[in-house]
Amino acid sequence: MPSIDAAKIRKILDSRGDPTVEVEIHAGGVAGRASAPSGASTGTHEAVAFPGGDVAAAIARFQAEVRPRLLGVDVTGQLTVDRLLHEVDGTATFARIGGNVAVATSLAAAKAAANVLGLPLYEYLGGEQARRMPYPMGNIIGGGRHAIGGTTIQEFLSVARGRTVAASVFANARVHRVARDLLRGRVPSGPLGRGDEGAWVAPLEDEAALGLLADACRAVSAEVGFEVRPALDLAASEFYRDGMYHYRSRSLSPKDQIEFVAGLVERHGLFSVEDPLHEDDFPGYAQLTSVVGEECLVIGDDLFATNVSRLRKGIEVHAANGILIKPNQIGTVSDAKAAVDLAHRNGYATVVSHRSGETTDEAIAHLAVAFGSLAIKTGAVGGERTAKLNELIRIEEGLAGE
Ligand code: PGA
Ligand code: ZN
Repeated sequence: MPSIDAAKIRKILDSRGDPTVEVEIHAGGVAGRASAPSGASTGTHEAVAFPGGDVAAAIARFQAEVRPRLLGVDVTGQLTVDRLLHEVDGTATFARIGGNVAVATSLAAAKAAANVLGLPLYEYLGGEQARRMPYPMGNIIGGGRHAIGGTTIQEFLSVARGRTVAASVFANARVHRVARDLLRGRVPSGPLGRGDEGAWVAPLEDEAALGLLADACRAVSAEVGFEVRPALDLAASEFYRDGMYHYRSRSLSPKDQIEFVAGLVERHGLFSVEDPLHEDDFPGYAQLTSVVGEECLVIGDDLFATNVSRLRKGIEVHAANGILIKPNQIGTVSDAKAAVDLAHRNGYATVVSHRSGETTDEAIAHLAVAFGSLAIKTGAVGGERTAKLNELIRIEEGLAGE
């Protein structure tokens, strides 16, 4: 198989206007190009995106240490490439070369290898059995770290479960539009802005926003004739301080928070709740999952950080029944796949996810199919979000042999 004969890196813009990196891997006369996203509500247990926040230093380290090691390596040896990244870095969290440099390199190698073999990325990584399309989860109303002046809860999502991914993608976009009209009615004066992921930002109490989203989901579900359900990503670590969860007009103890979230699941028929508690509260998660786990996915994002050892701990104590998979939280395609495999072996659902700061890289659409994930969280509208959604539509068409 062809070996890597060139590897380039460059600084590019992400959707927030921050710098990130794009890596290009060349082999056998073709190339693969991939870029790294970045989070705003990053978990403590994630890979370090750029050590010291210094993109220029991370680029220099790639040139000096990563690039020379990549040259000559078989491009189809994904595991070798990913091991090499760990070896060059030498820390558990990519604290030297940066998780964003690692993930862009790992994905670029996978794309180059797929191109060498003439396969779509999902098939190269997932093989023949990669045929199931994930349900798209679209962010409709948002707050937290992704918006100023919005809700305390970070994401109010819609999850459309149509017969085709194309139908689901359009249903989520329709919920986004209907939610705008409902918000206009509720907050008639003043501007209605959008947050980092394209979700509406509204000065509402959290449960009022959820009620409005649930109404929009119901209306669209009646229109399209299939299930469209609301879901939440609380990103609760972001508003947990001194042992309490601080909302706009009240603060809740951990016990009250569990009760509050269980009530939201019950009252609004939630498909999933992500990060309902702070990122180290394994026992609290287990308690919530024992109450709502039959009817709703309890998804760990900051809790697990796409990290196999944190997931293993969660499985032992029945902390959740789902895990968010963000490749740049862990740094390589192989590590993300290991987390997915461990999750699936233990009956956990997996949801591949974008970050709030994104690029137009479409790779996560392929990863979700390759991994056989239940769902993909990648926004409802907005250029860097639709890059993934439209790629899902293309993949579905490819799978149907059209
Ligand atoms: P982030 O948010 O990319 O800012 O971390 C996304 C999420 O919490 O799921
Ligand atoms: Zn999250």
